Amino acid sequence: MAKIDFLAKELDLLREQGLFNTIRTIDGPQGAWFVADGKRVLNLCSNNYLGFANSPLLKKAAKQAINKYGVGSGAVRTIAGTQTIHLELEKKLAEFKHAPASIVLQGGFNANLAVIPTITGEGDLIFSDELNHASIIDGCRLSKARVVRYLHNNAEDLRKKIKEEMKDARRMLIVTDGVFSMNGDIAPLPDLVEVADEFGAMVMVDDAHGEGVLGEGGRGIVNHFGLEGKVEIEVGTLSKAFGVVGGYVTGPQVLIDYLKQRGRPFLFSTGLSPADAAAAVAAVDVLLQGDKLVKKLWANAEYFRGGLKAAGFATGESQTPIIPVILGDEKLASEFSKTLFAGRIFAQSIAYPTVERGKARIRCMISAVHEKKDLDFALEKFTEAGKRLGVLTAERSSVNSGNRQNI
Ligand SMILES: Cc1ncc(COP(=O)(O)O)c(C=O)c1O
Repeated sequence: MAKIDFLAKELDLLREQGLFNTIRTIDGPQGAWFVADGKRVLNLCSNNYLGFANSPLLKKAAKQAINKYGVGSGAVRTIAGTQTIHLELEKKLAEFKHAPASIVLQGGFNANLAVIPTITGEGDLIFSDELNHASIIDGCRLSKARVVRYLHNNAEDLRKKIKEEMKDARRMLIVTDGVFSMNGDIAPLPDLVEVADEFGAMVMVDDAHGEGVLGEGGRGIVNHFGLEGKVEIEVGTLSKAFGVVGGYVTGPQVLIDYLKQRGRPFLFSTGLSPADAAAAVAAVDVLLQGDKLVKKLWANAEYFRGGLKAAGFATGESQTPIIPVILGDEKLASEFSKTLFAGRIFAQSIAYPTVERGKARIRCMISAVHEKKDLDFALEKFTEAGKRLGVLTAERSSVNSGNRQNI
């Protein structure tokens, strides 16, 4: 037996528990419909909120950048130099977010790893929402600061925990997702900022699912709540509404200058490819020109959420185009997803460790590229599957609806 074979047992265990993740193969670009495992299906899984992942404008920008800069950025930017397209993207992102400055990383995950351990360390306290994204959790782990989890979206619990823990802390950071990626609910940022100001803590928000979605023309959660200048650090991703790949941080110039000197993913990982950077510039340009796509996204999300609720599904606390159908049992969620796929709907089940055990769900991601007839088709297939698998009973929907304990 090879030393590595213990992993086979672990994989068997995942299969037994309904936690084994089967990755479907997509033959073509992301969009409302695509071919997955050889079958044409309606796509409810991608974070491509505005349809930019296959936008002719973005593709043209990427091709032009390849012609001008080649395909690779050579090495880490501090060693091989920064290509002008990276600087253009950073300027554009800061302008879009109404922030003083920005730094681009290779992904949103890396952006969190670049900020949290760089600005906090031993002797510091981090207050982190209990449902924060894995990349925030890992950033906190790397920081060596003491991490205190507060109850999800609960500013009162945060206040109480700060009071209990703050003695002797050198500095304090409050960190939250802006839009929670598995629930689609929005952080109560004004309340968190108020608590932060009361105790002199810094605030950081990961706006991965808020930019291109919330605020004026998709400027994100800080703009949505009118808090510009009051939140020290915003993290973003170029992989969701912007349709490309990459991550970034916006904030005061001093923060960005420091991250360029000390942020490990910036110092030790090669810069974004020029094509990705140029496509992201083009995405921001489209958003700077108007909010047509953002409006369509919201109209679609509201229509679909309303349809699911009317059919008797529990969509939890969803307020955004992230719309979970909460089923609880992992095997049931996996079966539900397979039934949907048989009916030409691609909506993956999400289970532990992405969400807590016993809180499995089908997560629907709505996009501006969906048409009303697509959403009607999906509602019909969800209802069929819901009836077949017995998840539309009156008791079940009344137990689940709007009750955070069930998420
Ligand atoms: C809240 C949040 N932060 C960060 C990330 C990571 O972003 P990226 O895919 O750009 O690495 C995600 C993606 O799932 C996310 O949902």
